[in-house]
Amino acid sequence: MKEPLLCVDNLTTRFTTSSGTVLAVDRVSFSISRGEVLGIVGESGSGKSQIFMSIAGLLPPNGQVSGEARFLGRNLIGADESELNRIRGRALAFVFQDPMTALHPFRTIASQLTEMLRLHRGLDHGAARAEALRLLDRVHIPDAKRRLDMYPHELSGGMRQRVMIAMSISCNPRLLIADEPTTALDVTVQLQVLDLLDELRRDEGIAIALITHDMGVVSRLSDRVIVIYAGNIVEEGTTEEVLLSPTHPYTQGLLASMPDLYRPLSALSPIPGYPPDGRQARKGCMFAPRCSRAQNVCRDVFPELTARTGRQRQACHFPISGSQGLAS
Ligand SMILES: Nc1ncnc2c1ncn2[C@@H]1O[C@H](COP(=O)(O)OP(=O)(O)O)[C@@H](O)[C@H]1O
Ligand code: SF4
Ligand SMILES: [Mg+2]
Repeated sequence: MKEPLLCVDNLTTRFTTSSGTVLAVDRVSFSISRGEVLGIVGESGSGKSQIFMSIAGLLPPNGQVSGEARFLGRNLIGADESELNRIRGRALAFVFQDPMTALHPFRTIASQLTEMLRLHRGLDHGAARAEALRLLDRVHIPDAKRRLDMYPHELSGGMRQRVMIAMSISCNPRLLIADEPTTALDVTVQLQVLDLLDELRRDEGIAIALITHDMGVVSRLSDRVIVIYAGNIVEEGTTEEVLLSPTHPYTQGLLASMPDLYRPLSALSPIPGYPPDGRQARKGCMFAPRCSRAQNVCRDVFPELTARTGRQRQACHFPISGSQGLAS
């Protein structure tokens, strides 16, 4: 069998802080195949972003990571900085929530895109400008020639996100890590950006790790989903399985509580309580204090991620069956 594009095994990330050690990612294992979109969902602070910051070697100095993350056959955990630099921005590219933090405010789109193309692809000035124009066209920026010479603040949020996507695909990535790529955008613009990502996956075979707190975003683009709670994967399956028949009480709670592209705010029913503090000692199921199905065993024994039927896996001693998700 062919090796997946990204294969993560037992990834664990800790941060040392003055008030104790934060366990942000706890023994996480998953894979992403070529051209596949994997949705990574969970509440804010659950560890979604740190999984990918760890994989890409982008942790701050107080972060320590263990485990393996094989990308294109090479383990990135512990790889030296020069190797990571060769991979980041090329085979492995990021799209973040707020393009304004990634784009330089006082430089035109052309100068930022061409610099990248000259640096990473060795194009001369003329060729880089032509390629920059092609990339803006590729991400469907209307009137691209005129927009090339604009500054980021002269573009709408949606257009800026398209520029960000143009930059991230400029070196033909194999995996795009899209971290809340549409969270800052209006709903109609969100849909357009998701359609663009879908097109890139379809036409260019780019795999996407789609990090989001929004189940509507996941349902539109992902093939498979992993659900993260307190740094653990608590459920994994195809998008259809996880969204239509969630088996973990947390997934079901998320579906009932998250505002998304389809659910009116009035229909929300929040999960009671709060996620645990990452510094807390771990025993049993981390969701137990918030779970209506919790029993004594849940508080004592850590529920391993297992498949009871089919391929859908859940980390729960008393999984739900036949429940309703997004279809409700
Ligand atoms: N530099 C840091 N120092 C200490 N804790 C951190 C640091 N960065 C992230 N964390 C903690 O790691 C956990 C996971 O964060 P993150 O992956 O950013 O969550 P999200 O699911 O919202 O993307 C959070 O509890 C966060 O407070
Ligand atoms: S293991 Fe127990 S506490 Fe945890 S989610 Fe399942 S039923 Fe709830
Ligand atoms: Mg995040």
